[in-house]
Amino acid sequence: MWDSFQLPGQNLNASISHPVLRAWHTAGAGQSPDGTCQFGLDSLIFPLFVTEVPGAREPISSLPGQFRLGPGEIEAYLAPLVELGLRSVLLFGVITDASTLPKDDTGSAADLAAGPVRTAIRIIRERFPSLLIACDLCLCGYTGHGHCGLPSPADAADCHAPGASGLDHRLSIQRLGDIALAFALEGAHVIAPSDMQDGRIAAIKHALAHRNLQNRVSVMSYSAKFASCFYGPFRAAANSAPGSGDRSCYQLPAGARGLASRAISRDVAEGADFIMVKPGMPYLDIVRDAANEYPNVPVAIYQVSGEYAMLYHAAQHGALQLRAAVQESLEGAVRAGSRILITYYTPHLLHWWAGREYEY
Ligand code: PBG
Repeated sequence: MWDSFQLPGQNLNASISHPVLRAWHTAGAGQSPDGTCQFGLDSLIFPLFVTEVPGAREPISSLPGQFRLGPGEIEAYLAPLVELGLRSVLLFGVITDASTLPKDDTGSAADLAAGPVRTAIRIIRERFPSLLIACDLCLCGYTGHGHCGLPSPADAADCHAPGASGLDHRLSIQRLGDIALAFALEGAHVIAPSDMQDGRIAAIKHALAHRNLQNRVSVMSYSAKFASCFYGPFRAAANSAPGSGDRSCYQLPAGARGLASRAISRDVAEGADFIMVKPGMPYLDIVRDAANEYPNVPVAIYQVSGEYAMLYHAAQHGALQLRAAVQESLEGAVRAGSRILITYYTPHLLHWWAGREYEY
């Protein structure tokens, strides 16, 4: 009888399996330690690029102040940030050297034990056991074609080919479920799928349940992810730009408020524990819609690479003052209804809140 037990659409224990996750449910966005912001340490998630090259601490030119970190550098890089109160990271794997970890049609490097994400999870779990580890889950950084799922062979990875549906849906979500499971078994607390394929939340939940991880590992869905020019600096950082075609067959058109709402409902129905709107600043109305429609599901906002670069370069040219602009942009996100803030400015905020300058 129990063999046929079906996982219910909502399995709530996963979403309270770590102190930071519990804070997302019980508090608002909190307050910064120095009292200058209406959001605090628990709300911040720092996106971190991890690579397989052992001693790398490679500056990312499209994201000044951000680095690709190899296994040998992760501890030294994170230690001072943890000291300042860093609570959560979001890992992005970057394949730097295609001769060691080749990019192939199925993205097989994504879940190799020696791949960048699993390696980083092991290091962080061991050295910083209290840190919440979220892992971005996507295929674009691991495949030769650079798309977020597996292309149907007939469509040759080009979602604008005549008659193309783009990606093979069934193969894509199965593969994403497998990778999610590998990250979860390695010790990730949160799986964050950014691929935007229908049905992947359910596929991931089933993969987790299959190994009895449904109460330990939660899913933060990039639900309302728009096809945005603001991802440009990220794609340079992660070597993940599509080889041909673009992502408009699986990411939302900028004006699609109704579709965003349906995408969020779909993911909640499939069991997403947290929902995300991305990018941030141009889409605050979508955050407010999500918070109104699902007041009981914490909403995350991703201040993406283009937003980071925009504020950085504006400040460099004296158009605005960086700290004020960063804090104000994130306060706007909190006001719109988000209590989880994914931002490359996390290290800066940690320094500013401790009364220190942030040194590049
Ligand atoms: C992968 C992914 C992207 C981002 C997060 N995950 C790029 C994309 O969809 O092309 C963008 C993040 C950023 O710009 O900071 N699918």
